[in-house]
Amino acid sequence: MLTTVLRILIARRIKPFVFERRKDVYLRYRSSNIGIYVHIPFCRSLCPFCPYYKVLYKEEIAKRFKDALINEIEIVSTRYRDKTVDSVYFGGGTPALLIDYLPEINAKLKTNFNISGDFAIELHPLDLTRENLKILEEIGFGMISIGIQSFSKRCLDALDRREGAQSVKKSLLLIKDFDFKTVDVDLIFGIPGQTLESLKEDFETAVEFGATQISTYPFIDFSFLNNREKPLGRREKRVMLRQLTQIANDIGFERTSIWTFAKRGSQRYSSITRDNFIGFGPSASSLGDNAFKINTFFLEEYINSLEKKDLPSCLVLEFDIISRASYWLFWNSYNMDINRESFYRLFGVELEKIFYWQLRFGEVLGLLKRYEKGYKLTERGAYYFHLVEQEYTHKYIDRIWRLQRTESYPERIII
Ligand SMILES: C[S@@+](CC[C@H](N)C(=O)[O-])C[C@H]1O[C@@H](n2cnc3c(N)ncnc32)[C@H](O)[C@@H]1O
Ligand code: SF4
Repeated sequence: MLTTVLRILIARRIKPFVFERRKDVYLRYRSSNIGIYVHIPFCRSLCPFCPYYKVLYKEEIAKRFKDALINEIEIVSTRYRDKTVDSVYFGGGTPALLIDYLPEINAKLKTNFNISGDFAIELHPLDLTRENLKILEEIGFGMISIGIQSFSKRCLDALDRREGAQSVKKSLLLIKDFDFKTVDVDLIFGIPGQTLESLKEDFETAVEFGATQISTYPFIDFSFLNNREKPLGRREKRVMLRQLTQIANDIGFERTSIWTFAKRGSQRYSSITRDNFIGFGPSASSLGDNAFKINTFFLEEYINSLEKKDLPSCLVLEFDIISRASYWLFWNSYNMDINRESFYRLFGVELEKIFYWQLRFGEVLGLLKRYEKGYKLTERGAYYFHLVEQEYTHKYIDRIWRLQRTESYPERIII
């Protein structure tokens, strides 16, 4: 309901969005800067709460995947020789399971793209070994993000997450011996049995162990998963989010998005809120000016196509200017900063020309506050956006991922 109302008010569409199966799509980028996302779909074990596309790690398939990924990089990069890549993000899955191949993958990216920005990688606590961190630093990763979820045993049990908090703390100590610019820690709030005290302890412990950024995600129960215990309700999450904002403020972290807090002056780290990006790997998405594309979720299909040097088929959502601008507005609202100049740079038209009424309405309702560069979300606006973002996850992401997990190449997805 909420997503439908927003679609009509902001994207001005009565009809739903339609993703269609395509062999390929040529994504156009007006901006000269783009981001790269590389999806590594392997894990040591599969956590029941996690919706991302991944399979159990096996040596043989990992090697074939790496070769396919290199082919995909080769094919796609020929289209964007004139662009500069200002960030590279490895996510998953558990990318460090391919630690032996990462030097080759990074080298390939550096040869085929003009890369000026930082390399970032998601790590599982079990990846935190001196050897791994040394390699990552040597091959140019300046930013790491560690999926802690919680330090409380009760919460980890509720998530069916196997690694114990004590061993995690021991591994985290290693980070201080290295020189990563950004150390992000992922926490989840709204876990059954979680208390305000344990959440506060989670936040403070992460900072004590050297986190420069904390991402705090509300626990979301995806329809295609089988969570034994369900997330806490809307009210409890509201109190928790308010508390997280307060703790962050007390210890000198600033809110950098609806769900992230960063040490003042540190470099922020995000995989999702970029204006343009190219995604590699199964399930990876790419965002251009003209379309949004999602690669197949089936690893075998992905590898088979790329072994023949064909891009794997994908789902494509074509944008008109208003829907593309609405997409921009959505993710910049998530960042809590709607910047007039960056909108103009991307669209060549004034922000207020496209969204005059929507922005006025946001101001009148106390969700937005105008400042010299555009609009910032207020505390109230941030809370409502937190609700919208969860709804968007249930209505859009859940639906797309559920279908893509069951069919390698669905004909069409209507959302
Ligand atoms: C790709 S995952 C994790 C990276 C790493 N493999 C790990 O397990 O530590 C990225 C983050 O998404 C968050 N996440 C995963 N499933 C979630 C869910 N159902 N609800 C909320 N956050 C979730 C977690 O905080 C997780 O660390
Ligand atoms: S949370 Fe991390 S380790 Fe667990 S299944 Fe998801 S990606 Fe893999």
